[in-house]
Amino acid sequence: MTIQQFKQTAIEKLSSSPSPALDADVLLQWILQKDKTFILFNRELELTEEQEDKLSAAVEKRRTGLPVAYITGTKEFFGYDFHVTTDVLIPKPDTEVLVENAANWIIDEYSMQPGTFNVCDMCTGSGCVGISLMKFLSESDSTIAGEHLPGFTMCDISSAALAVAKGNADRLLSEVQRQKFNFVQTNLFDNLGHAKAGIYDIIVSNPPYVPASETTELLKDGRSEPRLALDGDVTLEGKPSGTNDGLALIRNLIPQAYRFLIPGGMLILETGEYNAEETEKIMQENGFKDTKLYYDLEGQLRNVSGIK
Ligand SMILES: C[S@@+](CC[C@H](N)C(=O)[O-])C[C@H]1O[C@@H](n2cnc3c(N)ncnc32)[C@H](O)[C@@H]1O
Repeated sequence: MTIQQFKQTAIEKLSSSPSPALDADVLLQWILQKDKTFILFNRELELTEEQEDKLSAAVEKRRTGLPVAYITGTKEFFGYDFHVTTDVLIPKPDTEVLVENAANWIIDEYSMQPGTFNVCDMCTGSGCVGISLMKFLSESDSTIAGEHLPGFTMCDISSAALAVAKGNADRLLSEVQRQKFNFVQTNLFDNLGHAKAGIYDIIVSNPPYVPASETTELLKDGRSEPRLALDGDVTLEGKPSGTNDGLALIRNLIPQAYRFLIPGGMLILETGEYNAEETEKIMQENGFKDTKLYYDLEGQLRNVSGIK
């Protein structure tokens, strides 16, 4: 079977996927370990029997609804390849604006007050937010380097997710950058010490914020993403909150984050376009000033920030 013949068969078999041609291309690139251009210019290349077997197994997995990223084990985010397993949410392009907005604030603050920053990435999952932020800051602002590299506390309730995040930090960060990272298994801020004064200059978080009923609907397509990463309607004990606005966890996160910020520090969150404005209100009710809403590249409300 040639590359072209495989593509035709795969596209037919993956007709229920929203992107059959792209899925087939990504699977080919993964099995052949070649880039998009190679696949495009070598359509008549004969696949080996082993390649054919691996590709048809991958297509069968994709037919169950399993996303391509879980099949290949990687997802590109902010220009970096993150390792992913079904223990973590697959990083989404929408989340890249969270990294950009956090980086812009840090760079502005740093230019006014050089020093060392402490960053908390709450609900870190694959670590894509904190790790990309470190790489972006080190590469875009030469003054934020060496001893002035920010310290990162990467937090998640899931030990399996933290293991994935640590692996990504080991692979993507330099030795010096990696030394600035600390990983903590914690239910929100429970295990970060009950500091009276704040410790973080910025808390950045993409928490679970999808309404409970919508989470149930989303998971019906076989995507296998952890419910823990999506459902925002959970209590501090991890039980259903009985609400359906996706904001139960955020209602607990915001006052806790306030306590853990230094005066003048920033909390910036990703939310749904449907609950961003309500999140801004919760921030204001909990003492945050200068609250701000941000749009993503598709023009949807995506981030909310406030200053302590
Ligand atoms: C929406 S995912 C975000 C993952 C990653 N930051 C990203 O942007 O792709 C939310 C993460 O929050 C974690 N989480 C859920 N409840 C938590 C809690 N109470 N405390 C800490 N982390 C929690 C989940 O395990 C999951 O990894």
